[in-house]
Amino acid sequence: MLWGVGMEAIKTIGLKKNFKVGMIEQQVLNGIDIIIEKGDFTGIVGPSGSGKTTLLYCLSSLEKISEGKAYINGKNIVDFTESEIAKLRQSTIGFIFQFYNLIPNLTVFENVLLAKVIAGKGDSQIEHILDKVGMKDFLNYYPNQLSGGMQQRVAIARALVNEPEIIFADEPTGNLDQKIGKEIMDLLKELNRTEKVTIVLVTHNEDYLTYCNKVFRLLDGKIII
Ligand SMILES: Nc1ncnc2c1ncn2[C@@H]1O[C@H](COP(=O)(O)OP(=O)(O)OP(=O)(O)O)[C@@H](O)[C@H]1O
Ligand SMILES: [Mg+2]
Repeated sequence: MLWGVGMEAIKTIGLKKNFKVGMIEQQVLNGIDIIIEKGDFTGIVGPSGSGKTTLLYCLSSLEKISEGKAYINGKNIVDFTESEIAKLRQSTIGFIFQFYNLIPNLTVFENVLLAKVIAGKGDSQIEHILDKVGMKDFLNYYPNQLSGGMQQRVAIARALVNEPEIIFADEPTGNLDQKIGKEIMDLLKELNRTEKVTIVLVTHNEDYLTYCNKVFRLLDGKIII
């Protein structure tokens, strides 16, 4: 199969990430080689500090890659200009954080709208997306008036609003109780199934690996399986 016309959403070759703190350089990712196909629901697990968040940040270009290659839809993001990176983040990928990261002084509607405005788009579809995540009745609420599960639903709506092909989710259920956590997982699975969104999920919960068709285990910045 010709590379670039295949089904890979993500492919990394020898991806490395170092952080320099003062005089000390720490190698956090030690040569990651992974392939994630379009439509995969991929789980990334590993102990605290093994580099899971760093890997998601590198793949979504929230962090600069130190060495190696990372292809998104066949294009090496290491070579991207600032404007190509901005376009990638606005239209190809969506990111869901463990602590939701909603803007406290914006309403539910405005939080989702902001993501569209940044991408240079209007306010269509916002109510529809909030309906899809079960939050249509809360358009004028502020984040602090919502439960954690509800805030995460809004954060998912924000990640979805520009119709990304890939969603990175960094422990999206880490702060939620089991029942709400499962609801969020079911919502991600539904998006994966019906809209064919590629999901890359970091989780500490081994039970959730049943949602995944592919699992990578990280240890000390390396994939062990
Ligand atoms: N911006 C940074 N500057 C310096 N070191 C960093 C930075 N971000 C992460 N690190 C280091 O990289 C290592 C991996 O961190 P990372 O957050 O990727 O781990 P993780 O697997 O997501 O852990 P957790 O399960 O606790 O979230 C840690 O040793 C951390 O201290
Ligand atoms: Mg982490």
